[in-house]
Amino acid sequence: MPSSRQARNAMAELLADTGSGPVYELGSGWGGLAIGLAKKYPNRQIVGYEVSFFPWLVSVVVKRVLGLGNLVIYRRNFLLADLSAADVFVCFLDTGNMRAISHKLSAERSRDGFLISNFFALPSFEADNVIKIDDLYTSPVYRYQLRRGIAPTG
Ligand SMILES: C[S@@+](CC[C@H](N)C(=O)[O-])C[C@H]1O[C@@H](n2cnc3c(N)ncnc32)[C@H](O)[C@@H]1O
Repeated sequence: MPSSRQARNAMAELLADTGSGPVYELGSGWGGLAIGLAKKYPNRQIVGYEVSFFPWLVSVVVKRVLGLGNLVIYRRNFLLADLSAADVFVCFLDTGNMRAISHKLSAERSRDGFLISNFFALPSFEADNVIKIDDLYTSPVYRYQLRRGIAPTG
């Protein structure tokens, strides 16, 4: 299920003051969010990871048609990928994946950065900003600051 338009806008807003470094989307689905971010931030490198073949294929075809040179989308499991070059992560996943990401970041991360998550919280980390979007559930979009050398809470 893709992020709603309001959630995508909130994620783009939370991304605005995170510098100019690479943005990795964990589970980029059909590519709607990654493509939107690549258009909105033409000077930032946007990297998507998607395991499912058809959504990945569609996203790569659309990326080529639009000629988005700052976007690359890998058909790969992000839990097995080297994510050390990312400055910012964006995602819309489930609680199991968020738990796995929390463990991976705690174990491997050696630099500062941000994680922006639609709806699902990142266990053991504290959000530095939350936007409640204007939908039926006032769904949250969280932003976490990932700090090198600071142990996560909990
Ligand atoms: C709910 S969709 C969100 C799509 C998109 N990020 C958005 O916000 O519109 C989650 C996507 O993550 C993908 N996914 C889940 N676990 C993954 C993993 N370990 N590696 C890569 N992709 C994964 C799923 O195949 C699915 O397409």
